[in-house]
Amino acid sequence: MAEEAIRVEALVIGAGPGGYVAGIRLGQLKKRALVVERDKPGGICLNVGCIPSKALINASKYYDKFRHGADIGILADNIRVDMAKLQSWKGEVVHKLTSGVRQLLKSNGCDYRTGVARLTSRNTVELTEKDGKITIQADNIVLATGSRPIEIPGFNFGGAGDFIVDSTGALEFTAVPERLLVVGGGYIGIEIGTLYAKLGSKVTVVEALPAILPGTDPELAQVVARKLKKIGVEVMTGAKARSWTEKGGKAAVTLELAGGQEAILEVDKVLVSVGRRPNSEGLGLEEVGVKIERGFVPTDKRMRTNVPGIYAIGDLAGQPMLAHKASHEAEVVAEIIAGHKSEMDVRAIPAVIFSDPEISSVGITAEEAEKKGHKARVGKFPFVALGRAIANADTDGFVKVVIDADSHEVLGIHVVGNGASDIIAEAALAIEMGALADDISLTIHAHPTLPEAIMEAAKASLGEAIHIQNR
Ligand code: NAI
Repeated sequence: MAEEAIRVEALVIGAGPGGYVAGIRLGQLKKRALVVERDKPGGICLNVGCIPSKALINASKYYDKFRHGADIGILADNIRVDMAKLQSWKGEVVHKLTSGVRQLLKSNGCDYRTGVARLTSRNTVELTEKDGKITIQADNIVLATGSRPIEIPGFNFGGAGDFIVDSTGALEFTAVPERLLVVGGGYIGIEIGTLYAKLGSKVTVVEALPAILPGTDPELAQVVARKLKKIGVEVMTGAKARSWTEKGGKAAVTLELAGGQEAILEVDKVLVSVGRRPNSEGLGLEEVGVKIERGFVPTDKRMRTNVPGIYAIGDLAGQPMLAHKASHEAEVVAEIIAGHKSEMDVRAIPAVIFSDPEISSVGITAEEAEKKGHKARVGKFPFVALGRAIANADTDGFVKVVIDADSHEVLGIHVVGNGASDIIAEAALAIEMGALADDISLTIHAHPTLPEAIMEAAKASLGEAIHIQNR
């Protein structure tokens, strides 16, 4: 087929929560923009990450709640999991959202094409499509190619028997594995491990560090660790998976335990979730002089790389590798390209772990605050003292509000408890607006709701909590 050439003001490579949002915003700003994607629109998040995992996590919660319904007077017999139906429903959820992405791009005037992009100069990209190559001339190029799971030696994904899977594979199981080994007790390992434990798997998590969810306030992570034990998940810390072989239809995995001794575990599936690495290879970046550091493409606050006209956003541009960070950077980059005075200027980025109970966090911890020279004060409020949480029959966890003792400025809010994912929005707004603990305390919170725990914790930081003893 004859080579085609097109010209745009902005080309976005990748259609995840970074790339597609950049495309929409560029369209809104009347820039002639094109988003290209080698796979399906929506990226990891919509297709095989955030969204499908939340669908399955939600279903596993329902199942678990029904099984324990007798505790609150709901009796049901013979509850089972129909994995085929569950997976097809999950597929519908994903389809609804990914088809929405194309629609949104179109209605905002941004073009979309499927193909593999490679930079051939600082403003030309070769796009290999199903039936040929085209050349795209772009005044600006936005790199939004995301990240992929890290493999560990000896545990290659896929392969015979499909024993070793990444998060994508683990979200596509057609049957609940009898025994599941999770290597890596981070975000993904804990979320997916918990989901299958609730659906009936016997789950073991091996984590190389001394505790699960490293990087999370240990007081919060401990609540999750206790619950994991309660639902029958075995957590081995200070342990690593060394090698594996197939044995009688199972994977026999050799583990190196904390004391240095070895153990062999026979399982049906092994989920390797030891982190993700940015997709910076194969794009022609080195050839056109884009700087790459440990796989990431460094940028300034305007998302500019070292090469004029080339920008990077999302996982590729660095930590935290979170969809909502990517989307925010996407809006910034579109505005920069449109000539606005925009920049990535945020006080804090919220993070959520969809564990049981959920963890959410925004801003800094008391220890970090002290290191930064603040006199930190902490107000805590447990869900066991909150009407709504008691009525929900879900009282594990607490809210912790960290403030500057002198100014009362809110520095961080950390939540462990089911519902944490929703109530963190208020906390992020408070920090972004430079709120004082007094502002949260004086804001009337509807009763009976979970966000009242944030209000009470803010009051507690001032020594004025109503529903617990002040210290
Ligand atoms: P992670 O960095 O959260 O956790 C990886 C864990 O594996 C760490 O605890 C690490 O100590 C451990 N580890 C590393 N090598 C090991 C080995 N050989 N044996 C045993 N343990 C080992 O990475 P994860 O869970 O793969 O997630 C990747 C990223 O995806 C996260 O950092 C997060 O940014 C993003 N994500 C976000 C979610 C959310 O926002 N709710 C959900 C899932 C992922």
